[in-house]
Amino acid sequence: MKPITKGNGFRDTWTGELRGTDAGRPVRVAGWVHRRRDHGGLIFIDLRDRSGIVQLVFHPDTSGEAFAAAERLRSEHVISAYGNVVEREEGNKNPNIATGEIEISVTEMNVLAEAETPPFPVDDDEVEVDETLRLANRAVDLRREVMLRTLELRSDIVQAMREVLVERDFLEVETPILTRSTPEGARDFLVPSRLQAGAWYALPQSPQLFKQLLMIAGYERYYQIARCFRDEDLRGFRQPEFTQLDVEMAFVDEDDVIEMMESVMTRVFSLVDSFDVPPTPWPHLTYAESMLKYGNDKPDTRFGLEIHDVGPLLKGSDFKVFESVLGGGGVIRALNAGPREMSRSELEGLNDVVRIFGAKAVAPIYAGGDAGWQGNLAKFFTREQIDAVNAELEASEGDLLLFVADAESVAAASLGELRLELSRRFNLVPEGRHDLVWIVDFPMFEKTDDGWTAIHHPFTAPTSTDFSDPGTLGSRGYDLVLDGVEIGGGSIRIHEQAVQEQVFEILGMDEEEAERRFGFLLKALKQGAPPHGGIAMGLDRIVAILAGRESIRDVIAFPKTASGGDPLTGAPAPVDTKQLRELYVASTAPPPASAE
Ligand code: AMO
Repeated sequence: MKPITKGNGFRDTWTGELRGTDAGRPVRVAGWVHRRRDHGGLIFIDLRDRSGIVQLVFHPDTSGEAFAAAERLRSEHVISAYGNVVEREEGNKNPNIATGEIEISVTEMNVLAEAETPPFPVDDDEVEVDETLRLANRAVDLRREVMLRTLELRSDIVQAMREVLVERDFLEVETPILTRSTPEGARDFLVPSRLQAGAWYALPQSPQLFKQLLMIAGYERYYQIARCFRDEDLRGFRQPEFTQLDVEMAFVDEDDVIEMMESVMTRVFSLVDSFDVPPTPWPHLTYAESMLKYGNDKPDTRFGLEIHDVGPLLKGSDFKVFESVLGGGGVIRALNAGPREMSRSELEGLNDVVRIFGAKAVAPIYAGGDAGWQGNLAKFFTREQIDAVNAELEASEGDLLLFVADAESVAAASLGELRLELSRRFNLVPEGRHDLVWIVDFPMFEKTDDGWTAIHHPFTAPTSTDFSDPGTLGSRGYDLVLDGVEIGGGSIRIHEQAVQEQVFEILGMDEEEAERRFGFLLKALKQGAPPHGGIAMGLDRIVAILAGRESIRDVIAFPKTASGGDPLTGAPAPVDTKQLRELYVASTAPPPASAE
């Protein structure tokens, strides 16, 4: 940290910055008692501030008063101390900490605040602490070094993003939090209006429509570190409230946006020494190829085990299960898991992995033996079929081949998850490897039980304006995937009002609804809208991957739990009936179950 130029009554020096060359200097430091040790008439305190830790030594002969006060110090008390920096004796130097050559011989000490015994140790990052307890005591939890380092990295990442964008003339603009629905595929969080009875704001799922309006306004290059709100089911890499680096540019095509974000992210990844940033341009993979080879649109390409379509090679066999799936329009997909020896029960356990996706089972076959495949299934297939599949999967003697026969989406998702499960189980990701890949050529629409829905959001430009068969239309969207995690996504947008209206229509919105919900966008699209496009990056996910944390909760200062709650403040919480009345809201929630 930069030196403190003007000290005050609390301190004139950061603890973590003191070195051997400071010996002989009087200093004043302040911070928290990290550890206390009593040693043969001396008291040692490790004092911690944001910059690090320094050892204070209290000697009864140097200052009886300070020594007596030090005897009463406990972990996490807040103090200010004054004394001389002295070099430690040779045997007492600690090469493991930056200030290990010196200590401060304290002559004066003030206790600024006492602290209760902390609910868990602050000085040990290794101890496992229950997450709810950590979140409920977040001020203590955030003191742990691992949390400080993570939030410092987060701050550095945001800084690096800003630097590149400012160098490239991007303008930072804030957009509203109290707004109307901005659909990104999740439920909205709603806020009732007091001044307009019965009306509601929605919190933005993203600043999407505002950034498009800024392009129409001629701001051309916009960015924002934007908070987004989505009421969706939460998993490890999702929060109801999260942060995006949101960017938009006018007069651009896909390559311009991709080049810009590669330069931003190269600067970001370069912050981490161990991250070997792949040279740009990063590879592109089409959506169709990703779905086929990896079973999803966020492929982890750091290890092989790619999925192959083997239905055409196995057609006409005596194996009824495969034949009936193929006959019913399904597919047979397979991957070569390599020479993995797994017990019968372990192989059966793989069925549980695929059942989540609706698949009935995995058929495991070991390659090799006289028939080309070992085990019972071989007898149902001709030698040519077996040889063709072995060639397709590049199978050698002893390789485990896994087959799933089902509807295409089920087989893809099942084998996609099996790949990941095998990589976790057999540690298949090479140490330190990071892969970046752009997923491109997405379909525009997807058919669901509710009709057509947009794969990206409904403002994404289609590759053609022939809407006669929505299922065949491509979109100009792109996602950036890092190590199997979607860290960003964007698109070239629709800038023609007529096209936007047509997309709304395919999504099942009549003119009246489109006007009511998005009239402001449709109007702006008639007011001189340049071609434009952009992207948004998931900041929390990026920080989590770079910091090596399992959950994005560990990279957000004050996150929510999996059930959307905040154990610190108790949010969400009931409110007074009076407050609800002022908002014209009545609750239909059942009364809380009474404690038995
Ligand atoms: P999208 O919905 O793909 O695009 O979001 C962009 C990125 O935000 C991250 N993300 C999340 N991170 C944490 N918790 C969540 N619940 C969550 N949801 C998304 C992901 C994702 O890639 N308006 C468009 C962007 C654009 O078109 O410019 C949008 O929001 O890393």
